[in-house]
Amino acid sequence: MRCDYCMPAEIFDSKHQFMHRNQLLTFEEINSVVESMIPLGVKKIRLTGGEPLLRRGLEGLIQMLSKHPVEIAMTTNGLLFGGRGESLRNAGLDRVTFSLDSLDPIIFEKITKTSGKKIQCILNSIEEAIDCGLGQVRINSVIRRGINEQDIDRLIEQFEHLPVSLRFIEFMDVGNHNRWRYNEVVPSSEILNHLQKTMTLIPIDSTHRGEVAQRWKVDGKDGFEIGFISSVSEPFCGDCTRARISADGRLFTCLFASKGTDLKSIIRGQNKNNGIQDLITEIWKTRDDRYSELRSNTPKPGTIVLPKIEMSYIGG
Ligand code: 5AD
Repeated sequence: MRCDYCMPAEIFDSKHQFMHRNQLLTFEEINSVVESMIPLGVKKIRLTGGEPLLRRGLEGLIQMLSKHPVEIAMTTNGLLFGGRGESLRNAGLDRVTFSLDSLDPIIFEKITKTSGKKIQCILNSIEEAIDCGLGQVRINSVIRRGINEQDIDRLIEQFEHLPVSLRFIEFMDVGNHNRWRYNEVVPSSEILNHLQKTMTLIPIDSTHRGEVAQRWKVDGKDGFEIGFISSVSEPFCGDCTRARISADGRLFTCLFASKGTDLKSIIRGQNKNNGIQDLITEIWKTRDDRYSELRSNTPKPGTIVLPKIEMSYIGG
């Protein structure tokens, strides 16, 4: 997929220089990074992308990672998920999140540059994930003003009878190419007000510090849940506990970071886990990223312009 707000087709086209295979961490190398981070308190691993299911034999990686005492989750666009739910779960995958911004074929196609016919494929994947017991399945929808606001109600209608968590994500200024505009951000409060006109929403207490979504139950719809991720209108930098590793082995301490720390050369140089562990500890102790808070504090949001890592390298 080439969603215009994340991986726009005009930048990530056939001329784009994608990484060579040997630049990517191997499954063994990813596993060794994870191994060195477990003693530092890592409890959950999320496989993201780009699109994680593009990586051949992903079950093999999940199997390795599931030997550690961690929860394993994945964020996917759902296109390559069909028929693999069971093998992914058997490998040790605990939860899955699907990205789906529109149920209207024309709008879907406009956003993703992928045929609107694929919506059905994603819906089938969601059902398959539910049927094979992959936790409470989540659906991420980025709602943008003037683009897919009509989908707020349509998505609810589509999913309210299923045991899923539908999460509305505010459009963020990640990366350098997504032509982010503040006036395209639909604040969570606006969606919440809109929904409260027709349904009774009951707040759910957060289960742990660092939970990114504010969650609500819907009266009369057992198992269904609505979440809001409000990183623009209510930044949560102070509670963020996420470390992000890119496919080529750089450690980022923020989704909006401009620089990562190269772990791959350390692993390939000497393969000493302790070296990485100490380095990560040092980076983690001194991290002070708070991009989203700074963005909110500028008089005109959107005026901080720094080169940033692309969402498709470390997002999810
Ligand atoms: N703003 C908000 N959400 C984004 N995502 C990707 N780019 C952006 C952006 N600019 C979402 C995707 C996916 C999740 C990993 O992040 O839709 O669901």
